[in-house]
Order: sequence, then C-alpha cells, then structure tokens
Amino acid sequence: MRLQDKVAIITGAARGIGQGAAEVFCREGATVIIWDVLEEGEATAQSLTDRGYRASFMPVSTTDVPRIEAAARDVVDRYGRIDILINNAGITRDKTLLKMSYDDWQQVIDVNLSGVFNCTKVVAPYMVEQQYGRIICTSSINGVHGAFGQTNYAAAKAGIIGMVRTWAKELGPKGITANAVAPGYIRTPMTDAMPEEVRKQAVSSIPVRRMGEPSDIAYAYLFLASDEASFVNGHVLAVNGGQAL
Ligand SMILES: NC(=O)c1ccc[n+]([C@@H]2O[C@H](COP(=O)([O-])OP(=O)(O)OC[C@H]3O[C@@H](n4cnc5c(N)ncnc54)[C@H](O)[C@@H]3O)[C@@H](O)[C@H]2O)c1
Repeated sequence: MRLQDKVAIITGAARGIGQGAAEVFCREGATVIIWDVLEEGEATAQSLTDRGYRASFMPVSTTDVPRIEAAARDVVDRYGRIDILINNAGITRDKTLLKMSYDDWQQVIDVNLSGVFNCTKVVAPYMVEQQYGRIICTSSINGVHGAFGQTNYAAAKAGIIGMVRTWAKELGPKGITANAVAPGYIRTPMTDAMPEEVRKQAVSSIPVRRMGEPSDIAYAYLFLASDEASFVNGHVLAVNGGQAL
C-alpha cells in the first residue's frame, strides 16, 4: 500500500494508460479522481468503487481553466488535500509538416502542452500550502526523439520536459517533486488507431518484442508518486522496452 491515504488526480483516466493508472493507484490505497472529457470516466470510476476502492469522476477538460479551478476546489473540499497530480491526458492529430493545418497544431498544443500547464498551475498552490506534492507528466518517446507526422505532438511532449525540469527547480524547495514519464508504444485506444502495418513495424524495433501495456506506465507513475521516490526530481523516465536508449 504505497499510496495509503493519498489523494490523486489523474487526467485522461477514462480509458487507456490513465485508466490503468487509476486501477493501480486505487489498489495501492489512493483516492483517485478522474478528470476527463469522456463520459466513460463515470463507468471507469464506478467499476473501481464497485470493488470497494475510492474513486470518482469529474468531467473536466484540461483546456478549461475555470472548470479546473472549480474541480480542484471541489477535490480539496471533499478530500482535504491533493497529494498527486498526473498530467496524463493527451491527443494526436498526426500529419506531416506540409499537410498539418494550424488547427491540427493548435489543438494538440492546447491539450498536450497548455493542458499540463493549466492543471499544474491550479493544483500546485494547494501542494505548496501542504508542503507536499507529486507532479507527474506524460511525455513520450516521440517528444524526446521526434517522430514522422508528429510536429505538433513532439513539440508538446518535448515542452512538457522543459516544464517538468523547471518545476523541479521551483517547487523542489516546497516539498514537491516534478517528473515525467516518456512511454514508448503502449496498447491503448490511441495506438489502436494506428494502421496495423505501422504497429507491426514499431514492435519489430522494440527489443522486448511487444507493445507496452497501460500497467507498464502505471507502475512507473506509481514509483514516481511513492515516498521511495522523494529524491527523484526533474527526471524523465523512459518506459519503452528499450526502443530508444
Ligand atoms: N499509447 C501510447 O503509445 C503512448 C505513447 C507515448 C505517450 N502517450 C501518452 O500517454 C497519455 C495517455 O495516452 P493513451 O494512449 O492512454 O491515450 P487514450 O486516447 O487512450 O486516452 C487519452 C485520454 O485523455 C482524455 N483527454 C483527451 N483530451 C482531454 C482533455 N482536453 N481533457 C481531459 N481529458 C482529455 C481522453 O478522453 C482519453 O480518455 C497521453 O498523454 C499520450 O500522449 C501514449
């Protein structure tokens, strides 16, 4: 029970990696609050509470600052504190530079970069007040190395690394750590949308010869959220089966 009595907000946890993280965090004793734009978040939270875990869903877009402010206040009113923020929500709008529209660019920057800023900006003051917090942001192998067709996504995911390293410096003295996880290819609805051929090619370039599962990333989040990781700050943890070293 590494997260006994901890209160964790996980964005984008209605499905995919975030859902896997909600599951693992509940099992480790946390109260999990799912912030997502998908109504499926309700069923995800329900399936956790049905098994006796503490979980709830709040419809929150990470692009809507007034809604984030109200939801964070609601979490603190209900549960007394916010110990962990996992900025996991993300989208793709893949196209090569020559075909990418300004709208494709802006949508991905709004959710994948500004969304992380928005949630952290709102939640950090509560953590400062407590003199305790764990901020974990989901970058990507493609933010570190770039990827064909992902100017927008790679820029946002690289930007997350810059923010995390800055927050590590600014918030470290206040009892708060900030770290990123950079997943490789993980089997979720996001990658289910990739053409079969591209997925096969990706797997052949992964030394462990499989795609990751949401739980592979959830356990990385768990480590960074745990008390054992209190000296890990500003780190980018690659979880990619050895695809990029
Ligand atoms: N799957 C992969 O291979 C992979 C690899 C590297 C990084 N990632 C990153 O991991 C994170 C989770 O990805 P996933 O594969 O589970 O994707 P997914 O599409 O299955 O889940 C993403 C979740 O984010 C939610 N979301 C989207 N926009 C939102 C918004 N504005 N506000 C709140 N919630 C919003 C979606 O509704 C969905 O529930 C993302 O940040 C993604 O970029 C995924």
